[in-house]
Amino acid sequence: LVQGAMAKLVPLAPDSWIPGGVPDPLIAHKHGKIGTPVSRLDGPLKVRGEARFAAEFVFDDMVYAALAYATIPRGRIAAIDTAAAEHAPGVVLVMTHRNAPRMNPPGVFGSSPTAVGPADLPIMQDDRVHWNGQPVAVVLAETQEQADHATSLMRFTYAAEPSTTSLDQAKAAGIEQGLFMGQPLIDEIGDATAAFATAPHTVDNVYRTPRHNHNPIEPHAATIAWIDGGLIVHDASQMVTAQAQTIGEVFDLKADQVRLTSPYVGGGFGCKGLWDHQILGAAAAKLSGRPVRITLSREGVYRVVGGRTLTEQRVALGAQADGGLEALIHTGLSVMTPHNNMPEPFILGTRAAYACPNIHLQVNIAKMNMLANTFMRAPGESVGTFALESAIDELAVELAMDPIALRIRNEPEKDPISGLPFSSRHIVEAWRAGAEKFGWAARSTNSGARRDGEWLIGMGCATGTYPYYRMPGAAARITLTRDGDTVRAFVEIAAAEMGMGTSTTTAIVAAERLGLSMEQVNVGYGDSSIPGAIMAGGSQQTAAIGAAVIAAHNALVAELLKLAGNDSPLAGLSPGEVGSEDGGLAKLDDPARRESYASILARAQRDELVVVEEASQPLELMHWSMHSHSAIFCEVRVNAVTAETRVSRILGSFDCGRILNPKTARSQFRGGIIMGLGMALMEETQFDERNGRIMNPSLAEYHVPVHLDVPDIDVMWTDIADPHTPMGAHGIGEIGITGVAAAVANAVFNATGKRIRDLPITLDKLL
Ligand code: MOS
Repeated sequence: LVQGAMAKLVPLAPDSWIPGGVPDPLIAHKHGKIGTPVSRLDGPLKVRGEARFAAEFVFDDMVYAALAYATIPRGRIAAIDTAAAEHAPGVVLVMTHRNAPRMNPPGVFGSSPTAVGPADLPIMQDDRVHWNGQPVAVVLAETQEQADHATSLMRFTYAAEPSTTSLDQAKAAGIEQGLFMGQPLIDEIGDATAAFATAPHTVDNVYRTPRHNHNPIEPHAATIAWIDGGLIVHDASQMVTAQAQTIGEVFDLKADQVRLTSPYVGGGFGCKGLWDHQILGAAAAKLSGRPVRITLSREGVYRVVGGRTLTEQRVALGAQADGGLEALIHTGLSVMTPHNNMPEPFILGTRAAYACPNIHLQVNIAKMNMLANTFMRAPGESVGTFALESAIDELAVELAMDPIALRIRNEPEKDPISGLPFSSRHIVEAWRAGAEKFGWAARSTNSGARRDGEWLIGMGCATGTYPYYRMPGAAARITLTRDGDTVRAFVEIAAAEMGMGTSTTTAIVAAERLGLSMEQVNVGYGDSSIPGAIMAGGSQQTAAIGAAVIAAHNALVAELLKLAGNDSPLAGLSPGEVGSEDGGLAKLDDPARRESYASILARAQRDELVVVEEASQPLELMHWSMHSHSAIFCEVRVNAVTAETRVSRILGSFDCGRILNPKTARSQFRGGIIMGLGMALMEETQFDERNGRIMNPSLAEYHVPVHLDVPDIDVMWTDIADPHTPMGAHGIGEIGITGVAAAVANAVFNATGKRIRDLPITLDKLL
């Protein structure tokens, strides 16, 4: 009986997954809410059109904004003719650098804990143009159509200055060591150059990946009002708290004078942060004295919101005849602007990928005059795994070895660079289970050997990887309310929901932890007025939420025991001796000693109990090398006549710790894989090297996968909990895209004998 009750009991987990602690009991807590598929709680609201997105908030007397964009890459605005626009129907304000309010530049991300601007340029404060597409005017009008029309009537004269818009020019101008979050992107152990020179088997090639633009289904938007000197921004944001703080700094506001909400976001992937449009919208609202709704057109997203920058990567591998790696060189170039600090850190996923005594990893940067690039789903790993995992496949061909066997041969026992042990690494299990399910044994090792009429059939595979992170600063506020003998919990987290299921998973985790039903738990999020700060980035939000809920639950239990007092069956017990279950607390080793939350609150004559607690510091990251892993299997059909490539099957076999909500997790993995298919076969920003203008700023000309491009995607996972993370989970938001482009390229080689090292794999490259 006690054993049975124990299975349900959820005891406290004080910093339990960190060194010296015991694992979070929920890690081993099977058959509870965690691990059971739950549909998105916000799904019905979205289907009914009742979920209000950023561009659907309404203020009285609101006006609509449109932007005009510069057409030169660098120089000055010599003259602006605003007369026609000012006299156009419905126009309320034309704002340029001549009349914009004075504002501080936003800090650039990575240079301070709160700054979330992608660049530290002043926004519309002078006549300078820094990129082709920079907003140079804001027009406010009574309707969106009037604002758009008036914007088209403006005339700008520019004094162009020398600019760097071609890659060759940029390289000739000099390259620098790349930094990521202030750290140099360079790792060296042993002597990779010498080991490569003497290795009996080598491959040495350059891989290229193009620029990518962000295309969330919801273009960026904000509805903004100044009320009593304070600023309200209804935004589409994946970093709510930090963004509110940075906007406050731009306008010299105190923390309590800015409120940013973002209840629903139509996709983020790294781009739903602070860009010029929110700041310009707030400035125009200030100048006009009226609330503003600013929505970027699809073209506007390409002009204002940066994407993934290009890379040129050399991967040189040296190995023994049995496949054992002797040298691993992964170096190359990425491009960024003079005013930001986000190169594509393509070596991140290589650091812990393979055992090798001699490793050299390095990212250099060249600078171009263009829109500041930014985070895009698995920045670094997405394009880095394309190069590395293509090279591993090339080495397997050179060695006449099965590419899975080659990877398993080089599986490291500890992190090859940091020397830290892995917290949880079961990639070999993922490979074996995936190979079995996919039918890898049916692959022909001879390229071009399998054929179905005009179609050449091939199979390829690749490893995907993404680190586990947990950013500090997360907190949770739990409000327990009693109505008679019913209790409800309101769990508030300063987190962001981009549509991936965070609010649902938070409810699952909170309900399990508190011993309440899903119906008894409501979750608040996406509001800068909630204490703490968590961002939906780096695939770390769910771990941060878990740690915050653990901390707040611990605080709640301590408060409840105090309230329970001497008349309670729990009298005299310390927080470590009790756990939550079935709407109350019980003694861990004697569950008969229990009292419900409602009873405790009632005896104390309380209807409400509120606790706020900050999560523990992410010390686990200092003790272990922590990563999500995947094995991606892909089958392609390439038409021998037209070179049309179709991905016919794809399987992702994941090792990402414990999966909290299989339903939303499966969707995350699939979405990542689809984005990977786009990277492999179609996505490419066309950048005019003569003038730095993006030439394909629309979904008609920038291709992303549509349903016809997406085969059945099979997803499986090890579900092996990591004892060193809250709830045993790893991040799953970004791992899905990694490895996919290489798996496709490797399958194309297997089908055709042609090795494409330059994404996307379009048919012209195969003919
Ligand atoms: Mo992500 S690229 O951390 O949204």
